[in-house]
Amino acid sequence: MLTVENLSFAYGAVGILHGIDMRMETARVTCLVGRNGVGKTTLLKNIMGLLRPTTGVVHIDEQDISSLSANKRAVAGLGFVPQGRQIFSKLTVEENLRVGLQARNDHQKTIPDEVYDLFPVLKEMGRRRGGDLSGGQQQQLAIGRALVGNPSVLVLDEPTEGIQPNIIQQIGHVLRDLVESREMTVVLVEQYLDFVRDFGHDFYIMDRGKVVESGETRQLSEDLVQAHLSV
Ligand SMILES: Nc1ncnc2c1ncn2[C@@H]1O[C@H](COP(=O)(O)OP(=O)(O)OP(=O)(O)O)[C@@H](O)[C@H]1O
Ligand SMILES: [Mg+2]
Repeated sequence: MLTVENLSFAYGAVGILHGIDMRMETARVTCLVGRNGVGKTTLLKNIMGLLRPTTGVVHIDEQDISSLSANKRAVAGLGFVPQGRQIFSKLTVEENLRVGLQARNDHQKTIPDEVYDLFPVLKEMGRRRGGDLSGGQQQQLAIGRALVGNPSVLVLDEPTEGIQPNIIQQIGHVLRDLVESREMTVVLVEQYLDFVRDFGHDFYIMDRGKVVESGETRQLSEDLVQAHLSV
């Protein structure tokens, strides 16, 4: 479980996040939605330790991780798939996956087979350079790299952005499998509401740096979408 309490953040004098409270449950997929620029990525970066909040605390289960560096948070169990994937284009697929080993707390030196079981294309393409993969394959690589770190909480920023429908479905099934068979906590920012409804359990809606609505995804009504998400 991942919890955020009273988290606020400013870029210089400009307040971006205002007293965010969220609880993202174990073995569930929680979706964070909201219009462009409301602060979704900024919130994820605060959770990951890539930005420092002005107030607030973040817990994984009972552990307060608020004072840990991004690297230590990764070892504590946080995995991150950033917006735009950010794989290393000059490194091979296998080398990209090896980067994920640094986040493990058990000193394992080999890429776990289950990553290849979830995304067989990563085995087939192991020697190719990351930059030569298609967008969908790069997204699978970014998720695979996070999973190599054996996270208990997996955080993804717009995993379906710019990806064709069959890969979107595959990613959705992988995330459901991770929560069902490994009791992972999955948190994702998503614009594509069909994906939220098909694969998400819970949702939070953000507007201008605040949480304005939350619930189970089956309660995500047209009225809520009209009020907070349509442009
Ligand atoms: N480095 C920065 N310096 C100053 N302001 C920034 C910086 N990065 C983002 N912002 C501003 O912070 C606000 C929130 O941005 P953020 O990227 O968190 O939004 P988002 O909800 O993820 O949007 P999108 O859906 O477009 O990805 C925006 O107004 C943005 O312009
Ligand atoms: Mg964003």
